[in-house]
Amino acid sequence: MKAQDILAAAGPGASHIEALWWVFFLVCTAVFVAILAAVGWALWRAPRGDAASPPDTSFLHRRERGAEIAVGVAVALSTLGLVFLTVASFVTDRALASAGAPDLQIDLTANRWWWDIRYDDQDKSKIFTTANELHIPVGKPVLVRLRASDVIHSFWVPNLSGKKDMIPGREATLVLQADKPGTYRGQCAEFCGAQHAKMALVVVADENYEKWAAAQRNPAPEPSDAQQKRGQELFVNGTCAMCHAIQGTAAQGRHAPDLTHLASRTTLAAGSVPNSVGHLAGWILDPHSIKPGVNMPPNPMAPDDLHALLAYLGTLK
Ligand code: CUA
Repeated sequence: MKAQDILAAAGPGASHIEALWWVFFLVCTAVFVAILAAVGWALWRAPRGDAASPPDTSFLHRRERGAEIAVGVAVALSTLGLVFLTVASFVTDRALASAGAPDLQIDLTANRWWWDIRYDDQDKSKIFTTANELHIPVGKPVLVRLRASDVIHSFWVPNLSGKKDMIPGREATLVLQADKPGTYRGQCAEFCGAQHAKMALVVVADENYEKWAAAQRNPAPEPSDAQQKRGQELFVNGTCAMCHAIQGTAAQGRHAPDLTHLASRTTLAAGSVPNSVGHLAGWILDPHSIKPGVNMPPNPMAPDDLHALLAYLGTLK
């Protein structure tokens, strides 16, 4: 996964913002250096004296034409600089707003502390839901509709776009486009409670997007042996199904991430830990040791049951 970096733009949105960042950096650096030089010059030319020979302060009562011109020029340059930066921001904003017409629409809902992702389609049978790992096709603009279910969150994938707040009761939209294939880290950028820092979003610019989407639309595979079957029963008849859904089974909870293709994801708990059997076992038994305060309760269970459940969850490719 690429590190979050606004100076490594991988799409048009982030490129515009990166260019603006450099404009601000260069203008502000020039102003900073100019001010330091002016202060240095003022110190250097200040009249000096001591108790025996007091400094010459007669200039205080004299009009200095040079100083007046210098102040006038500095005020004019500052005004011009500010106007220039305002115009540059405006131009960037226009460029971001004029992104290409998207042919894919995604509903992204922020929850404490995970992301619900629904791929919309005019053909209702093609709609599917996943969580915490957003796949998008390479080189195509994607419209993301941003919502929040509980408190204010903020969507931010620095390599691909700017930030956008997700406010309960409102819908915001953002056009996301990745021109280089890769995996980019996103992060909730608005403090939303104890686990705000562990509210990451994995964004995959996927060259095989259609293949991935087709696989995600399938219901979960049926268990193929007795242990997996036992795991599925534990999931569906136990407490898991109260919050989680697995398509193709009776588990249809909507309070927590959809797990239909859990095993196809790279991380667990919104980017908190890698998706491995060990981490999954730890997460099921005691989620609070990984993410204190999370809604999921601890699930103490017998080793055989845990192994059966892990075997079943491992099939959810
Ligand atoms: Cu969600 Cu911070």
